[in-house]
Amino acid sequence: MEVLESRVDTESAEYQANFAHNLALVEELKRELAMARDQRSERALARNRQQNKLTVRERLDLLLDRNTPFLELSPLAARNMYGGGVHAAGVVAGIGVVAGREVLVHANDQLIKGGTTYPLGVKKALRAQAIARENRLPLIYLVDSGGAFLPLQSEIFPDADDGGRIFYNQAVLSKLGVPQVCGVLGLCTAGAAYIPAMSDEVVHVAGSGAIFLGGPPLVKAATGEEVSAQELGGAEVHCRESGVSDYLAQDDAHAMELIRQIVANLPPNAKTDIGRREPKPPLYDPQEIYGILPPSLSTPYDAREVLARLVDGSQFLEFKPLYGPTLVTGWAHIHGYPVGILANNGVLFSDSSLKATQFIQLCDKRGIPLLFLQNISGYMIGRDYERGGITKDGHKMVNAVATATVPKFTVIIGASFGAGNYGMCGRAYGPRFLWMWPNAQIGVMGGEQAAQVLATVKNEQLAREGQPPLPAEAVQQIMGPIIEAARKEGDAYYSTANMWDDGILDPAQTRDVLGLAISAALNAPLRDDRLGYGTFRM
Ligand code: COA
Repeated sequence: MEVLESRVDTESAEYQANFAHNLALVEELKRELAMARDQRSERALARNRQQNKLTVRERLDLLLDRNTPFLELSPLAARNMYGGGVHAAGVVAGIGVVAGREVLVHANDQLIKGGTTYPLGVKKALRAQAIARENRLPLIYLVDSGGAFLPLQSEIFPDADDGGRIFYNQAVLSKLGVPQVCGVLGLCTAGAAYIPAMSDEVVHVAGSGAIFLGGPPLVKAATGEEVSAQELGGAEVHCRESGVSDYLAQDDAHAMELIRQIVANLPPNAKTDIGRREPKPPLYDPQEIYGILPPSLSTPYDAREVLARLVDGSQFLEFKPLYGPTLVTGWAHIHGYPVGILANNGVLFSDSSLKATQFIQLCDKRGIPLLFLQNISGYMIGRDYERGGITKDGHKMVNAVATATVPKFTVIIGASFGAGNYGMCGRAYGPRFLWMWPNAQIGVMGGEQAAQVLATVKNEQLAREGQPPLPAEAVQQIMGPIIEAARKEGDAYYSTANMWDDGILDPAQTRDVLGLAISAALNAPLRDDRLGYGTFRM
């Protein structure tokens, strides 16, 4: 296969400046991740010890196979939201290996407001279930939660994608044969009682785990009955009397061991064979990506320089290199897995859209997973392009992306604006996973353009009414807040806090994350039965 040859001069001032800029972004990311992981109140830690419970990370250390990777999802969810401190939306979720099997773990963090569920905690649970469903990964719930975070109950409870959906999904996952195992490590109160109830197998820790629809304070208020949490829904009650729980564990460590045995006891699941090769590192150090990404998203660079640092052996068979050059398409391997890659190299035109459509069809027919590297300001606009059918050709690409059935993976490595986000497999187009780089920005359009549009609309309105155009100062007053909002809300951290992605990645680790993600995806059949497309507008 062809080998990509880098033209980057690693000694140049430009490379060094880019490197320093992006290294600083990655260091900021690492600080944010460390804070989300470790910042817990002394009071909560002391209470946890007093209750003889392990922390969520200690539980995961015992649950997961030693020296295996844990692909954590949305570790910065809810960052700076709800008044701060609700790290990761109060939940650790990710794909890890238990007894040699890839599984999805969803674990409450009881050190954050008693493990209660915030609105983004619901979203995280639903996302975990969607990933388990699409990739046919057994789901392990480690429950230790005070249930709904009551001050925000109206945002958690009533709507279709609110809390009730979690238990609905459990029933559907059960029907689909996706194994679900629940560890009861603290309270499973009210709605949360349904997590163990709807699981296939339940491990219940004596002394600290309890399941009930109404906790002791509610029972007292409702019936006057005085009862302790353990009398009401402890392990003895549910393992001996009610039958809600299946295995009695003496403590957290014992519970993790029992869950490992339950997973080991699951029937084997042969992974889909897509012809993996011996993995090879790229010829160029992935960290050199720091020196390639310019600080400004509007500065162009050759996407092949990123590919050379992402794919096995830097080998890339470029498809249609001479046609539609603003999109680079071609075949490569990542950690030995074959992938078809689409990487933006400028604005999307009709030719690049047609090339994308053809390439997606080829990958889909051949059963090759698709990787989208988004750095896109949008489809080309203007009189000539409209006449040339840019909307029609963009539609073909969007149609193909939407209906391709092979696993799709998206990394937003720069800009993600407008319909370009759709054509390059944004969240709404069903990628199995979507990540951002720290420099990435997302929005309908850039802030400047949005502000210009609104200023123009205002002046046209005034002209219709026979008024003079706005003075420069008034234009600034209209534009300023729009630009500021787009800057804030387009930021990768804002995106990840709202869970519009599965996390922010260090560019240098992207290849490893993609390897894990492709491996996880192969737990499911390669595609569903719906091979085929909608009607392409010609
Ligand atoms: N909504 C909002 N906040 C809650 C909460 C809830 N459902 N449950 C607990 N919290 C908060 C507490 O106010 C406390 O906040 P603080 O740290 O700011 O003081 C924090 O979570 C920890 O609670 P605490 O009771 O001190 O910790 P604990 O480890 O002793 O007990 C629980 C944790 C969850 C077992 C206990 O708080 C509890 O029983 N909560 C109520 C559960 C319930 O009935 N939920 C019904 C919701 S459907």
